[in-house]
Amino acid sequence: MTDSPPEDPIRPASAGSTSPTDATGWFEPLYAAAARGEATVPWDRHAPHQLLAEWMRRRRLAGDGRSAIVVGCGHGDDAALVASAGYRTTAFDIAESAIRAAGERYPEARIDFVTADLFHLPQAWIEAFDLVVESQTVQALPPSMREEVVAHIASLVAPGGTLIVQAVAAADGETREGPPWTLTRADIDRFAARLDPVDILLIPAPGQPALHRWRAELRRPSASQSDRG
Ligand SMILES: C[S@@+](CC[C@H](N)C(=O)[O-])C[C@H]1O[C@@H](n2cnc3c(N)ncnc32)[C@H](O)[C@@H]1O
Repeated sequence: MTDSPPEDPIRPASAGSTSPTDATGWFEPLYAAAARGEATVPWDRHAPHQLLAEWMRRRRLAGDGRSAIVVGCGHGDDAALVASAGYRTTAFDIAESAIRAAGERYPEARIDFVTADLFHLPQAWIEAFDLVVESQTVQALPPSMREEVVAHIASLVAPGGTLIVQAVAAADGETREGPPWTLTRADIDRFAARLDPVDILLIPAPGQPALHRWRAELRRPSASQSDRG
């Protein structure tokens, strides 16, 4: 993979840092600058991610009032799609300015947009959501944090619930410096060590044959399945 992914962010001064504060501290200034019209957010599509939209269509997802959470929601486009499918939707991001802008972008959507840190999740969110959407947050954080990031994301999934993970895939032998820090199959398997894999796909990006993305669907066994197992 030689192409830069379209959601490739600017390289922050802290890139490569192993400190959680440094690794996440550049998002708020970027979103705040964007709110002032002084920067653009490179991954802001003003539309849901097409991989997520296609997955939801194919699965004919209907929330019917079940709960969903969108991790690292940015300006809220994926959250709006999830809410439109009938989920009671929470969406969170560490960047307060992103959350403010998301609420302004989708004032009618009845989404609970919350400023929160994946590394310090509210206890009430643990194993609380029927659908968890993770799109491009793992890849935005340094690989040294990956195990912890995966554990926190997986912890949100309720018994019987589904996690969808989308990320740019690492090419064979890739040595590219992030962000984004692309994901290997071994990274996807970190999720599969915690939740049951349902469908793990490597999908070529439209018009960019050298670029592939992971879309992994995983499930936490329901309480009754766990009892039987
Ligand atoms: C590459 S962006 C992707 C945004 C969005 N999911 C999308 O696909 O357009 C990564 C997002 O994760 C958020 N983020 C980074 N670290 C976070 C953390 N510790 N807790 C919550 N959100 C975080 C950033 O502020 C940013 O909005």
